[in-house]
Amino acid sequence: MQEPQFDFGMIGLGTMGRNFILNVADRGFSAMGLDLDQKKVQALEAEGKGKNVGGTTKTADFVAALKTPRRIMMLVPAGKPVDSVIESLLPHLDQGDLLIDGGNSHFLDTNRRDRTLNEKGFYFIGAGVSGGAEGARKGPSIMPGGHKNAYEIIRPIFEAAAAKVEGEPCVAYMGKESAGHYVKMVHNGIEYGLMQLIAEAYDLLQRGGGLNNAELHQVFDRWNKGKLQSFLIEITAEIFKQKDPVTGGELIDYILDRAKQKGTGKWTSQNAMDIGIPLPTIDAAVSMRGLSALKAERVAAAKKLTIPMNNILVEDKAIWIEQVEQALHFSFLVTYSQGMAMLADASIEHKFDLDLEAIARIWRGGCIIRATILESIRKAYSADPDLKNLMVSDEFAPLLLAAQAATRTVIKKGIDHGIPLLALGSALHYFDAYRTARLPLNLVQAQRDFFGSHTYERTDQDGVFHTEWEV
Ligand code: 6PG
Repeated sequence: MQEPQFDFGMIGLGTMGRNFILNVADRGFSAMGLDLDQKKVQALEAEGKGKNVGGTTKTADFVAALKTPRRIMMLVPAGKPVDSVIESLLPHLDQGDLLIDGGNSHFLDTNRRDRTLNEKGFYFIGAGVSGGAEGARKGPSIMPGGHKNAYEIIRPIFEAAAAKVEGEPCVAYMGKESAGHYVKMVHNGIEYGLMQLIAEAYDLLQRGGGLNNAELHQVFDRWNKGKLQSFLIEITAEIFKQKDPVTGGELIDYILDRAKQKGTGKWTSQNAMDIGIPLPTIDAAVSMRGLSALKAERVAAAKKLTIPMNNILVEDKAIWIEQVEQALHFSFLVTYSQGMAMLADASIEHKFDLDLEAIARIWRGGCIIRATILESIRKAYSADPDLKNLMVSDEFAPLLLAAQAATRTVIKKGIDHGIPLLALGSALHYFDAYRTARLPLNLVQAQRDFFGSHTYERTDQDGVFHTEWEV
């Protein structure tokens, strides 16, 4: 029997798992992979030639090869596969070994696994990992949650493997139980919001402004050098210049307008609803994926619900591009504000005790929503860790005030043109609702009391009131 020799084990050798192992090996740790698929093991061995990396299809060999306490990470599809892997692994493990779930697991599943594994004497970490295949290889943003002692076991490896911004690793302990997966869920909610907003800006520039793909590439490329600098704007610029090998045209024009989803954005909206947090831009993004799926209905409706409209809604392209940039910047700021406000409230609701500054810090690099804006967010929470909403911070308020007029212009023109702006509109409405001292919801309370005797509060006296409304 060979002496255990590997520092780190990975279960699931798909692209993400293989890339993460290679990343860990590049940082000076030895790493062992397990997958039932021999081809994936071979792929790892080929890609890991010359590195301190091994692979196997056998659980017993895998476990025996790892130094104790074992540090085993799973990158397998969320849901049942995670439970199956845990079940098959447990008989081989020793007390004190650490299991890490690096997938996009639902936070309630993570709470359950954390509890049951801890009861059995194992450590467990639910870690959000963001950055896709390239992030896994070069440095992702990692959001680990669970027992603090469990995090200490994996910390050196995670800190080495994570992306770095100004020398700081994009990983930090998020909090107990499912705090890490919860933060990753909200990350993905923000991701959904930003992606939908970019898609709406594309519509405004292309259908509204008549820009072709080459011009769109130039515009997004320029935007990426300014206040909108971010990973998502960067890849959007690249997308517009990708050629289609089949037709010789531009690939974007041949991609079906039906966006799929694995569900993390929806979970964000669902949990926000459950704990009473308004997230309209993220909700809108989830709804637009739903609307995009209704392709056949939309094609039929386009023939029936026709409205005569001008094709081009702008006279001066340069001004229009500048206004859309401002609207996109405004709505990006609002979307981050909604996501961070959710984390602030959820931290209390779920008792996570989240450090919002640390979250902004580790999102500055490696992850899908990385952007220059994150540094302003970090500063805002550094100045006031109890900040309720970023929109009123000294970092965000002046930017929102500066961009709101252009945002209104863009939305008005878009509406006149029949361009659906569910996310952009919701961002402006959220901003307007949040800064409205007296909303018309007094009427909703009156209606509730009228038909259901649900009572209401008054503006001039404390207490709970009911009126016998006259009919
Ligand atoms: C990331 C991504 C990643 C994945 C999304 C895609 O942070 O690296 O968010 O987790 O690409 O799950 O989500 P949808 O399939 O729901 O769009």
